[in-house]
Amino acid sequence: MKGWSFNQALECWCIEDVVYTEKADVPQAQRLSVFVPKAYLSETGEIAKSGACGIYTAQNAPVIFENNAAGYMEMTNTHPGEERFFGAPYLAQGMVYVTCGCRGRSSKNAQGEYVGKAPMTLVDFKTAIRFLRHNRATLPGDWSKLVSVGFSAGGAMSALLAVTGDHPDYDPYLRANGAYMEESDAVYAAQIYCPIIDLEHADMAYEWQFGADPENETSYAGPAETMTPFKKTVSQRLRRMYVEYVNRLGLIHPQTGEKLELGEDGRSGAFYEMTMRRLGDAARLCGELPPTNLDDDVLHRRRRMKACTAFDRLDEQSGENELFGNSVQNTAHFSLSVAKAVQSVAEEFPEEAAALADGWAHCGDEAFQKRLRLLNPLAYIRDARGKKAAHYRIRVGADDADTAFSVSMTLAVMLQNANLGTVDDALVWRQPHCEADVPGQIQDWIHHIFEGQGA
Ligand code: DHB
Repeated sequence: MKGWSFNQALECWCIEDVVYTEKADVPQAQRLSVFVPKAYLSETGEIAKSGACGIYTAQNAPVIFENNAAGYMEMTNTHPGEERFFGAPYLAQGMVYVTCGCRGRSSKNAQGEYVGKAPMTLVDFKTAIRFLRHNRATLPGDWSKLVSVGFSAGGAMSALLAVTGDHPDYDPYLRANGAYMEESDAVYAAQIYCPIIDLEHADMAYEWQFGADPENETSYAGPAETMTPFKKTVSQRLRRMYVEYVNRLGLIHPQTGEKLELGEDGRSGAFYEMTMRRLGDAARLCGELPPTNLDDDVLHRRRRMKACTAFDRLDEQSGENELFGNSVQNTAHFSLSVAKAVQSVAEEFPEEAAALADGWAHCGDEAFQKRLRLLNPLAYIRDARGKKAAHYRIRVGADDADTAFSVSMTLAVMLQNANLGTVDDALVWRQPHCEADVPGQIQDWIHHIFEGQGA
C-alpha cells in the first residue's frame, strides 16, 4: 500500500486499483481503492496522528467498505466521477472510503473456466478486507470497526459480511483465494440497500407479492411477457408455499411479541400487516396516503418487474441461474421450491412439467445446499459461530420491484429476533432500485454508532 496521490476535487489522498490477492484469477476486477481525508496523511504519506476532519481523527475515523457488486456480476472498484462512486459525502465528513471490485457469475480465468460462481463474490470481499487489515499500519482510520455498504447484489454482500464474519465455512475458499488467514474479515456495521437475498426462497416471495399482476416489465433477466396458464398456476402454487415458508420461520414481532405469520390467503395475519405498515410508514413520512391493500398496490402503483419465475427462471436465463452454475456449466437451477411448484402442477400441465422434470436433480445434493447457504445471510443469523456486526441499517425503495418487500423485512425481523445489535429498517417512498436513502442520513447513522469516539 504505497503511492498515494492527491485528488483535488475530493480533497483526499487516494491509492487506487490495488490488486488484493496474489492469487487473483481476474486481476482487472479483484482490486480496490482507498480514499483518505487530506488531514489524515502527511505529504510524505505517513499517518498524521493528530490530523482531524469533521468529528474524527486519523486514528478513530470510521472506515467505509463499499462493495461494488451488482447483478452478481464481475465488477471493478469505482473511480471518482463515475456514477457508482459514492465516496464524496463520506470523505467530506471525515470518513475513510474503500471501493472494492470482485469476480462475478461470468468471470473466467486464463484457462477459460468459470471462477466467479457462488460464493466467490463474497469470498473476494472477505479477502479484500483481510488484505486491508494486513496493511493497517499504513492506513488511517479505525480498522477494527468497518462499516460495510452495498446495494442490491452488493446489499446481499453487505448483509453477508455482517453475519458471516470469520465464519469457518469460508476458510477453504479464503485459503484458496490467497487471503490472509490470520486476519479478520468481520465488520462492525452494515448498510444494506435493497438486498437481493434468500434467493432459493425469493420466487415464492415474489409471487406472493406480485402474483396478481399477470404482466411484467422488460426486466433485468428477460423480455416483457404475459403469464401463460401454466405460469399462472405455478405462481399460485409459489404464493401458497410462501405462506407455509413464512409460518415456518418462527418470526416474532419485535415490538408486540406476537407471532409474525401469514393467514392462509396470504393477505392477512401479522406478517402481512407489518408489510403494509412498513409501506405505509414510508408513504406517511412523505405526506402521502398509505397503500391499504398489497394487490391494489401491485396493480396500481408498483407493478411486477420480473416474469414468473423471477429468480430461478424456468429457462435458466436469470443472473441467479448463472450465479449457481459451476466451473464448467454456466447456468443451473437452484430453488427446490420452484422445483416443487412445477412438479405440483404436473397433472394439469403434463407437457410443461415433463420438459422441466430433471432440471433440479442436483439441488438436493449436500454440496449444492452448502453453496446456497454460503450466500444466504438468513442462514447465518442464528448460527452462533463467527462474528456478527453490532449495527444494521436496511433501506429499500418503495418503487423497487427487483425482489419482494418481504425479503428485506424478513432479514430485519430475523436480525432483531436474534438480538445481534441495533436494526434500523425502512422503505423509502418514491425511490427505485438504488441506494435508496435520504441524503446525509447514512452519515448521521455512522456518527451515531461511533458515538463517543469522535473528537
Ligand atoms: C441485482 C438486481 C436484480 O434484480 C437481481 O435479481 C440481482 C441483482 C442488482 O442490481 O445487483
